[in-house]
Amino acid sequence: MTTIRVLFIGDVVGLTGRTMFQKHIDRIRQTHAIDAIIVNGENSGSQGRGITSRIAQFFKHNGANVITTGNHIWYNREIYSYLDKNTDVLRPANFPRSSPGVGVTTFSCKGYEIGVINVQGRVFMRDLLECPFRTVESLITYLKDKTNMIFVDFHAETTSEKMGLAYYLDGKISGLVGTHTHIQTADERILPGGTGYITDLGMVGSLNSMLGMQKEPIIHNFLTQMPVKFSVDTSSPVVMSGVWMEVDVSTGKTVAIERIRVIDDALEVGSQDDE
Ligand SMILES: [Fe+2]
Ligand SMILES: [Fe+2]
Repeated sequence: MTTIRVLFIGDVVGLTGRTMFQKHIDRIRQTHAIDAIIVNGENSGSQGRGITSRIAQFFKHNGANVITTGNHIWYNREIYSYLDKNTDVLRPANFPRSSPGVGVTTFSCKGYEIGVINVQGRVFMRDLLECPFRTVESLITYLKDKTNMIFVDFHAETTSEKMGLAYYLDGKISGLVGTHTHIQTADERILPGGTGYITDLGMVGSLNSMLGMQKEPIIHNFLTQMPVKFSVDTSSPVVMSGVWMEVDVSTGKTVAIERIRVIDDALEVGSQDDE
């Protein structure tokens, strides 16, 4: 049986997340015999929001095959033209067709094509987006001619919406990973139809932060209801979270899944982030 092992890494937050990714990704790839890497970069920009074309190149240089995103994709305008010219950075597919970029792509790995779809949830998020269920369904129809290995990054807030889409697609895709909440769930498994699933990958960022951002201003905001400036937390320990799935190339079904959570107690993060 020929298989391909794909590693998914959750939302990388700012310079802290990028430094952590760069320091540990090679070792993780070797330890777990990873063939391909898909990383969510929606928070990889300097303020924990958005992504730039230089950061996209940084991820590619460090082994990422595809970079998925989410609701923060529009924060840095610099990425818009990159999205229009390249498909290795995806934006959620259910934004209006006129918005920059696309939400679906394929890449080759060990001589096989692998499809990737990025889509955003609507529950407690932007409910004006197209239905994620129907959007993914039509993209699967488009991809089926090219490959039987399809992975979905569902960037959504609620467990029920993520689980609902995973069950809806079970047996039609190889795997679905949830992103956006930045908190890793412990429910990774293979669904009855052969689709690998985890409700949320978690993030790459400071462990004792709030979703990668310094907690003090956010607590102040809860107490006072006054606007505050959010800053990326650079303190250690830093966590890197994700999951790998091993897919049988002949059936497109996932045959193994394992959760990844690496903690670095002393990560040296620079003080200046020029992105
Ligand atoms: Fe995020
Ligand atoms: Fe998000």
